[in-house]
Amino acid sequence: MTSYQRWTLRTEHTGYTVRLSPDGPWAELDAWGPHGVETGPSALDWSHRTHFITRADAAPAEYLPHGIRPFNGADLVASRPGHERGVWWTFGGAEGDEHSLRLTFTDDILGLRTVLCYATVPGTDVLHRWTELTCTGSEELRLDRLDSAAVNVPVTAGARLTYLAGQWSQEFQRTQLDLHRGTFGIGSTQGAPGHAYAPWLAVQDLTTDDAPAYGVALEWPGNWHITAEAEPGGAVRVRAGRVPHEGAVFLAPGDTLTTPRLACAFSPDGLDGLSRVWHRYERHLAGDRLQRTRKVLYNSWEATGFDVDAEQQLELAKAAADIGAELFVVDDGWFTGRTDDTGGLGDWYPDPAAFPQGFARFVDDVRALGLDFGLWIEPEAVSPGSLLYAEHPEWAYRIDDRPARLVRNQLLLDLGRPDVQEFVLATLDRLLTGYDIDYLKWDMNRPPTERGRPGAGPADRLDLDAEHVHGYLRVLDHLRSAHPHVTIEGCAGGGGRIEHATLARTDVVWPSDNTAPLDRLNVQYGFLHAHAPHVMSSWVTDAPGVFDPRPRSLAFRFVTAMCGVLGVGADLRAWTLDQRAEAAGWIARYKDVRDVIHHGEARLLGSPRDATCGVQYDAPDGRRTVVAALGTGRLTGAPLVPGRPSRLLLRGLDPAATYRDLATTTAYTGAHLLHYGLPFAWRADHDAELVVLTRQ
Ligand code: DGJ
Repeated sequence: MTSYQRWTLRTEHTGYTVRLSPDGPWAELDAWGPHGVETGPSALDWSHRTHFITRADAAPAEYLPHGIRPFNGADLVASRPGHERGVWWTFGGAEGDEHSLRLTFTDDILGLRTVLCYATVPGTDVLHRWTELTCTGSEELRLDRLDSAAVNVPVTAGARLTYLAGQWSQEFQRTQLDLHRGTFGIGSTQGAPGHAYAPWLAVQDLTTDDAPAYGVALEWPGNWHITAEAEPGGAVRVRAGRVPHEGAVFLAPGDTLTTPRLACAFSPDGLDGLSRVWHRYERHLAGDRLQRTRKVLYNSWEATGFDVDAEQQLELAKAAADIGAELFVVDDGWFTGRTDDTGGLGDWYPDPAAFPQGFARFVDDVRALGLDFGLWIEPEAVSPGSLLYAEHPEWAYRIDDRPARLVRNQLLLDLGRPDVQEFVLATLDRLLTGYDIDYLKWDMNRPPTERGRPGAGPADRLDLDAEHVHGYLRVLDHLRSAHPHVTIEGCAGGGGRIEHATLARTDVVWPSDNTAPLDRLNVQYGFLHAHAPHVMSSWVTDAPGVFDPRPRSLAFRFVTAMCGVLGVGADLRAWTLDQRAEAAGWIARYKDVRDVIHHGEARLLGSPRDATCGVQYDAPDGRRTVVAALGTGRLTGAPLVPGRPSRLLLRGLDPAATYRDLATTTAYTGAHLLHYGLPFAWRADHDAELVVLTRQ
């Protein structure tokens, strides 16, 4: 066996081995899988014979530029303006250890140094990859494609791709596609990850349904793309990166551009195991803030819409406190000029007509009920009739001499501008220091359309997408450091901006505006493949909800919302005493188990297409297992006809241990729960249960 220069990075349970190619000046994947997988002939080895393509086109390359890889898709396309495109580099050296690696490649003719960067994430099975591009010559460079990394997965029978697709109110629909040859692509040019696709992809060999799973997720709250190409040699090559709004980025002599990080994850246990790798990673992203109790929220948006006033909000707050909510959030509609979605954005002052005794007094009154106080804001938005827009029309995105289109009757501020950042920082500081606020919901309800910066010169010289991203992250970072006690919820018209840069700087995110029970179940099922329960905000709202008339019980709505961070968004004023009492019971039960839901290991049981599905949460010490079980409505006719209860097979338990349901005193062995599962006898009026098992 020929030996090549190789480097192995080790995560908690996996190894990722990169080698210098025997075929040319590039790095390629040698092995990626459980510890030890690198010993033996590489599964990515291939015949090294090519016809009509180059070896670089067939290699499992980690990152290759156009030039060296002319046909099958390059990760980097660079040129000197006015010259041919293409990079032909030489290997310039490696530095690193088991946890980080930097591989340098240089092209002295073009004047480009490219460093492929790797770093393992402590306590997880995730590896970060990104690329640093430095202009080393005396002329600027034009970068037409600047991916973060490419990831190779050897497949024998074709690839199964799992991705999260949808649209507004239908985000995170788990979707699968079998790829034998050709190219698959997802992405967004909406200045945010968008509702159509999450920047997340899982790849498995088609051999079995639960084949080992490889996953990638791009940390970038702007434009992005992920492609997967089934290549001739029996491998799938995934490429991911940001997409400059103007189509290209220019790099001045001496400057370095660092691409966003691509998180790469592996699990031998299929999509189920992969989801837990991502959950653990997001617990790592939360850092110390993971320990912060995610309080039971009440949000008044669905109850009162834009029609906000102190009296009615206090009535809702009182009802919320009575059923056990811990936090009251006033959503859109609290500020001047906001009687509907046509006005007010940008003028972030409480409406004196709505709060006649002053906003501070209102906040105090809410707090006197024993509730924390939260406020909604959409910092990047501006209404055309606002005072802010009259004063600073140049702050909104617009292309010189072109009309600016309204989406949801509003414009978008250019958060890449330092003056806009200062305005947003000052506004948030003023609100957060002026009032006793514990929670901030940051919303964004439109993408940039005519994305230009008036008077800023040639548009193709601006990197507006990256500037907006940096402004957004700068403000979030400031919130964390200047107002550390404030819990932050990320939202963009539902789940339009959910990725790891946002998740690292917020405490929870709002996956979708759709709170209708069965629709929500689908959203959450997809969401939990990629994201952890402790970030998943979920509300119980009024039946039948605004989107989906299929009836489900109050229990179903509570158990669904408890699968993440429980909130209530219904108009409690209209609830009967019985409904309020039932709600209080569910909230109390949730408080008792939320530490297991937010800190434990979660497993998705079945899918919303099944008669019964659910989520199993195991406490880190294994002493408690919580099962949220949901009957999706397929009635069997039992008990009027012969039938057996539906069962949910649990996973990961100790077969020899006894698990007791203290509510019913039923005892099960782990073997029973793993083999036969937990029984659920659904009826028309009984479609959800929360089971808490204590290991004896
Ligand atoms: C969209 C959000 O997703 C909703 O929860 C709500 O905050 C509205 N915007 C308010 O305009």
